Amino acid sequence: MPTDLRPRREVTSFVRRSARMRDSLRRAYEGQLGRLVLDVPQGELRTSVADNAPALDLTATFGRSAPVVVEIGCGPGDSLVPMAQAHPGLDLLAFEVYEPAVAALVARLVREDVPNVRVAPVDAVAGLERLVPPGALAEVWTFFPDPWPKAKHHKRRLVDAAFADLVASRLAPGGRWRLATDWEDYAAQMRAVLDAHPAFVAEPEERGDRPVTRFERRGTAEDRPITDLVYRAV
Ligand SMILES: C[S@@+](CC[C@H](N)C(=O)[O-])C[C@H]1O[C@@H](n2cnc3c(N)ncnc32)[C@H](O)[C@@H]1O
Repeated sequence: MPTDLRPRREVTSFVRRSARMRDSLRRAYEGQLGRLVLDVPQGELRTSVADNAPALDLTATFGRSAPVVVEIGCGPGDSLVPMAQAHPGLDLLAFEVYEPAVAALVARLVREDVPNVRVAPVDAVAGLERLVPPGALAEVWTFFPDPWPKAKHHKRRLVDAAFADLVASRLAPGGRWRLATDWEDYAAQMRAVLDAHPAFVAEPEERGDRPVTRFERRGTAEDRPITDLVYRAV
């Protein structure tokens, strides 16, 4: 179904949590607002994006022109920071709704002097739709999205056909979507959605240089096998 005929997602892939932060983390967050933490025009909710928010000028956002990668749900940056350091020629734009994780991320970016990461503290669905220009991205990373394991919550899972349409529209031709999960039925859902999607072709499944995160370690400790998927936009 073409994107414009699909209903807009009303169920979010996260639960809004009240975010209490240590003073030092609060200062790290507020000190970087408008710098490493993008000052996104908000909609009705803290995590939403105003309908009239202009798309980002990615060259101005990063202060240079380089291939841009989006990470969706970066948490405190356990994958993002090492990968940004390993690829200084890439610019990484992260979406993360949980403020304490954003604060921990920016504190680490400052501490480790990482220049090529910015974080938008909003829902990645609205963020991709409104802030990222079509065809702008070299890659999208979705590592260990919240699994919503109970059947009644599956509608909250981020990766579905409508979201695949959105990611496809933001990737440049030939761009890649990398996904990882430790939930076998979510991996099956991802494969079913993306194998059927006309804008993607499957590439060999490989983790590449993705570091091990807390979420991966927990999955392995609980005997859940890790699946890494790679799809290329055609
Ligand atoms: C299970 S954690 C994984 C974190 C990280 N990717 C890792 O592997 O360590 C999922 C993260 O995605 C974030 N998240 C969930 N839905 C989101 C959305 N729609 N937009 C932005 N962040 C989201 C959550 O707040 C959480 O930090």
